[in-house]
Amino acid sequence: MSRIAYVNGRYLPFAEAKVHVEDRGYQFGDGVYEVCEVRDGRLIDERRHLERLKRSLAEISIPAPTSLRALGVVMREVITRNRIGYGIVYVQITRGVARRDHAFPTQALRPSLVVTARALNKMRNEAIAERGIAVVTMPDNRWGRVDIKTIGLLPNVLARQAAIERGARDAWFVDAAGMVTEASSANVWIVTSAGALVTRHADNAILRGITRTVLFDAIKAQGLAVEERAFTLEEAYGAREAFITSASQIVVPVVRVNDRPIGDGKPGPVAIALRRAYHRYAEAG
Ligand code: PDD
Repeated sequence: MSRIAYVNGRYLPFAEAKVHVEDRGYQFGDGVYEVCEVRDGRLIDERRHLERLKRSLAEISIPAPTSLRALGVVMREVITRNRIGYGIVYVQITRGVARRDHAFPTQALRPSLVVTARALNKMRNEAIAERGIAVVTMPDNRWGRVDIKTIGLLPNVLARQAAIERGARDAWFVDAAGMVTEASSANVWIVTSAGALVTRHADNAILRGITRTVLFDAIKAQGLAVEERAFTLEEAYGAREAFITSASQIVVPVVRVNDRPIGDGKPGPVAIALRRAYHRYAEAG
């Protein structure tokens, strides 16, 4: 079955799904995006993802090309047309097409809207979570507004690639003060030796993950406490457990950081329990 993408009002086979060479997303990374999980054919946490998309657009002054409701309809249509049971939906909005000039074009532009969907391999993802992953750390060399979910992801791309070349699955960014910020496409959590769950407070130095937000409800329901604060790499080395969260993989235990085992080097009970509990607290539509 050929894949179908939504591009500026039309559902097109992938081979015909194209944007203009002077799209500002292509030339400047002048755009924002969202990734939502699809599970049993249903869109997970749509409302929160679209609210964050609205915020990202507003932060960089791109007008919304459609209402959030209409966008939700398109996302569902793309899921249906691609027959996705388990996978992700990707939404990208850029400022639009204009002659190349750094400043915003003075004429009114129609923002470009692209929606795609892709099946993921559930068995493979479960196997990864059961084993846990190794990560390596990298200096956080990104810009100061990574709270905006922009498509400009070069430092994240290079960090992930470097991690893979070093035999790990992902990278954790560490800022100039020695604090862990987040992973290349996920938020980072630890369970301290005292049993507290810690994840960085959501400032401009991390993306406020939707999975992170929903997990707070799951954690409360399990009677556990969360500390939203920065933590050092040293604290992570001494943690009982570590894990990462994102819409595409939910909760994934981290068992090694820079070749040092975390806890006993196996996925920990808190991460496993939260991974299992997540969808009881998520919204499925
Ligand atoms: N990434 N931090 C970064 C840098 C991210 O790119 C992501 C998500 C997250 C987690 O956010 P959420 O829980 O809302 O997915 C944190 C998506 C999945 C991606 O780029 O593919």
